[in-house]
Amino acid sequence: MAAGEVTQAMVDFYRVHGAVKLPGLISREEAAAFREEGMKLLLAGPTGELDIDGANQQRVQLWKWNETMRALTMLPRLGAAAERLAGMPLRLWHDDIIAKPPHNDGPTRPHQDMPLWALGNAPGALTAWIALQDTSVEMGCMSFAMGSQHWKDLPKEVAHGHRPDIAKGSLQNVDEVAWLPRITIPLQAGDCTFHNGYTFHMAGPNLTDEWRVAHRVAMVDAAAVYDPHLPHPVIDGLGLDPGDGLPDRAFPLVSGWAEAATAS
Ligand code: SIN
Ligand code: NI
Repeated sequence: MAAGEVTQAMVDFYRVHGAVKLPGLISREEAAAFREEGMKLLLAGPTGELDIDGANQQRVQLWKWNETMRALTMLPRLGAAAERLAGMPLRLWHDDIIAKPPHNDGPTRPHQDMPLWALGNAPGALTAWIALQDTSVEMGCMSFAMGSQHWKDLPKEVAHGHRPDIAKGSLQNVDEVAWLPRITIPLQAGDCTFHNGYTFHMAGPNLTDEWRVAHRVAMVDAAAVYDPHLPHPVIDGLGLDPGDGLPDRAFPLVSGWAEAATAS
């Protein structure tokens, strides 16, 4: 199997469990270069534009103005892998650099992504989480509750991970998912995971001396529609009405990434 290639076994695993690892999406050297640029942007700008939690620092929508990070966000083989896993055409929702400082105190709270996005039902929605350095369990790699993507109607404070017990990192009292097996996926630099928009995911604190830096690319069904059931900075302000499709300029179709990645 070539590095970065999605096999049928990976597709099958993803469809059943709601998350999968793709080794070698980019090389270690590429990961190191993207990490350097990503950290520079993160430290230079505002963080926390999206609701994740205090455990992470973020800089969102880099593809719109940074050519280096756009090349990673719109990497054609990343888009092709995502569409193969989802089994449908996709478009970009947003990208971001997401980083945990050394010895940060908290885990990333368990949550589902889709209930945090201002969209109608989008079964193909998924996020690629690309490790920009070796990311061990101790550094705070991602964990997934396997099969939890089937739970689509949980109360908001549960799905968002805001109930106080969940916010502290525990799914123990969420009966629907507490007893599902969890898979924890350490990644080497350049590897990535994909998780479905409804899969509960979480990450431990960073116990190491280094920043844990990842680049995320969130994608949604090409046919997804705006549903302002909660505010969301990447879509509010575009003048859309509820039920409108997403404009290609702000949410580029994966099918156009080969050209877009090199355009300035
Ligand atoms: C994390 O990087 O710790 C969380 C990422 C996510 O919620 O997708
Ligand atoms: Ni998330």
